[in-house]
Amino acid sequence: MAFPIAVALLVFPAIVGLLSPYATADYVLFTGEVLMAGQNLTNGQYRLAMQANCDLILYEGEIPIWGANTVGRGDDCYLGLKQNGELVVRRGVHYTLWSSSIKSKKGKYALVLDGNGRLGIYGQRRWTSSNQKEVGLLDGSTVTTEYVLFSGDRLMPPRKLKYKNYELEFMRCNLVIKDDQSERILWQTSTDARSCYARLETDGELTVKHKGQLLWGSNRKGSNGPYIAVLRFDGRLDVFGPLRWTHDGHHDSLSSNASFPSKI
Ligand SMILES: *[C@@H]1O[C@H](CO)[C@@H](O)[C@H](O)[C@H]1NC(C)=O
Ligand SMILES: *[C@@H]1O[C@H](CO)[C@@H](O)[C@H](O)[C@H]1NC(C)=O
Repeated sequence: MAFPIAVALLVFPAIVGLLSPYATADYVLFTGEVLMAGQNLTNGQYRLAMQANCDLILYEGEIPIWGANTVGRGDDCYLGLKQNGELVVRRGVHYTLWSSSIKSKKGKYALVLDGNGRLGIYGQRRWTSSNQKEVGLLDGSTVTTEYVLFSGDRLMPPRKLKYKNYELEFMRCNLVIKDDQSERILWQTSTDARSCYARLETDGELTVKHKGQLLWGSNRKGSNGPYIAVLRFDGRLDVFGPLRWTHDGHHDSLSSNASFPSKI
C-alpha cells in the first residue's frame, strides 16, 4: 500500500523527509509536516518514533516511556501537526487513530521533543524574523545541534543556535542569522554595546539586552507561559507559544539542555 504517502502529501503539503532528508537530529515538527512510518524525531537519548506497525512511541534509549496505543491499527500510519495545533496519528486521508485532543486557533504550531524527553506543542507562531526564506542545503555534511531557545534561557557567546548551515549568534553585540557556508548575514538586530545577550521572555518577546537594559525587542507579546524560538530549515527564526500540550500533562520547567547556565 504505497497510496497513503501520496495522500499524506495532499493533506500536509510538506513532509519532514522531503525537507530534511539527511537530518539525523531533528526534534521539531512544524504545522504542515508529517512524520511518516519509519521516521523519528531525535534529541539526545530521546526518540519519538512513528513505527511501521503504526505505533507512536517515545523512547528513552531503548526503553519506551510513552505511547499513543495505535499499534497494529493500519499500514503506513503517519503523525501530523494540524493548523489548529492538534497532533494526530492518522491513516489514509482523514482517519484519525489518535489525537492530542487540544485544539486551538488556526495558525502555525510546533511540536518539540526537548532535551529532557518531553513532547510539547507550542503555538501559535507569534513572530518571525524578517529575512526571506532560504531554500536550505540538501547536504549531509552539516550537523544539526541545538536550534531551539526556550523562554527564560539566555543566548550569549559562545553559545549559538545552529540548524545545518544556519546559525543564530552574536557578532560582538549584533544578533545575526548567518549562512555559515556563504558567510552571508541573513538577518540582524544591528545592536551595539559590550557583552550582550538574547533572551526569550516568558511573554514570548525576544530581546537583546546589555546588563538588563533593552537594546532590541521583537515587540510581539502574548500571555505568560513557556515559549520557544526555533531556527528553521529556511533560515528564519520563529517564536511559538505559549505551550499548549505536553505528553505527560505537565507544563512546567521545560528546558532544552540542562547543562547550559540560564543565569549569569
Ligand atoms: C528511526 O530510528 C530507528 C532506531 O534508531 C532507526 O533504525 C531508523 O533508521 C530511524 N529512521 C530514520 C528514517 O532515520
Ligand atoms: C548540551 O548542548 C551542548 C552543545 O550543543 C552539547 O555538547 C551537550 O552534549 C548538550 N547536553 C545535553 C545534556 O544534551
